[in-house]
Amino acid sequence: MKFKDLARWLEEPIEGVPALENRRLNAVRGFFARLTTPLIPDDYLHLVNPLWSARELRGRVVEVRPETADSATLVIKPGWGFRFDYQPGQFVGIGLHINGRWHWRSYSLISPPARDEGVISIAVKAMPEGFLSTHLVGGVKPGTIVRLAAPQGDFTLTEPPPEKILFVTAGSGITPVVGMLRTLARRDEIADIAHIHSARRSDDIMFRAELSGYEERAGYQLHLQLTTEDGKFMPEMLDEHFPDWREREVWACGPQALLDNLEVYMEEQGRAGHLHVERFTINRTANAGEGGTVKFRRSGKAVEVDGATTVLEAGEKVGVRMPFGCRMGICHTCVAELSEGFVRDLRSGRESNPGERVKTCVNTPAGNCTFEL
Ligand code: FES
Repeated sequence: MKFKDLARWLEEPIEGVPALENRRLNAVRGFFARLTTPLIPDDYLHLVNPLWSARELRGRVVEVRPETADSATLVIKPGWGFRFDYQPGQFVGIGLHINGRWHWRSYSLISPPARDEGVISIAVKAMPEGFLSTHLVGGVKPGTIVRLAAPQGDFTLTEPPPEKILFVTAGSGITPVVGMLRTLARRDEIADIAHIHSARRSDDIMFRAELSGYEERAGYQLHLQLTTEDGKFMPEMLDEHFPDWREREVWACGPQALLDNLEVYMEEQGRAGHLHVERFTINRTANAGEGGTVKFRRSGKAVEVDGATTVLEAGEKVGVRMPFGCRMGICHTCVAELSEGFVRDLRSGRESNPGERVKTCVNTPAGNCTFEL
């Protein structure tokens, strides 16, 4: 066998294992896979090092650093296959095994995309109703192995970044913007940034010291809106704080009401095309299907639901065993084959056709449809 043929043989896809983009990693994995057949390499690799998984992305928590009373920065060392060329502002999915179940959530990356340090950071705020966030802030120990979903998201800066930027953030909505600020600061590209950040009280401001550090350098101005003292931030206040805001490209992240108000106002002001928003919750009305009867062929069950109910929820209503992990479209656990009809993705509005494998947690029926479950 020639060297070229050997290389191709090693890089060939392995059944049931998604291919990595890095050819060298594929070849190394191919070597293990073919050497250890019929077991796939994970069965061996796990024993040597839990981060050496060819089948899924993993990471090890190396540090948990408190930020405020209810938030913390988690530093994670990703294992094999993680790509450090993500964009500032993107988020990463984190899965943690607690009490026999995988819990998933996504968090904005706050570390600049840089391979040299070999670690990533996320900031987590404990939410009263958020089991995983509370666990991550208060209970996760350094050394814990987590699953990772590849970085994704469209809330990113343009390349090159615009000269004049306005950030509008509230609460933990500041996290993707901190990722952007750190990246711009590292590249020495903070040209003219205006930032409005809302928090309840000054003790609640995440990254307070870091923001003060940016304030000391030219090119960054911060307005803090403490809602218990100053009331809520309303977009009409932009003229008062940053009268040149119409010349700026705007990135906004925070609660739904803030983003809705800003969208309406920017539209009225003829600036709709200059607003980039990040919503942490799925908007169930924007892209919902029209609803219909969802049939589960193998279980022999069917249920009629509206267009705001996901296929996952529809199945659970009638007792179909539906696999799930994150319930927000990041972990791939819930994927099932659509055999008839159409469904629509709540996040993008994209319709899937029969024969496609779809994430049941973020798709709603667009008419009657049948799943192989
Ligand atoms: S449950 Fe995670 S992608 Fe659907």
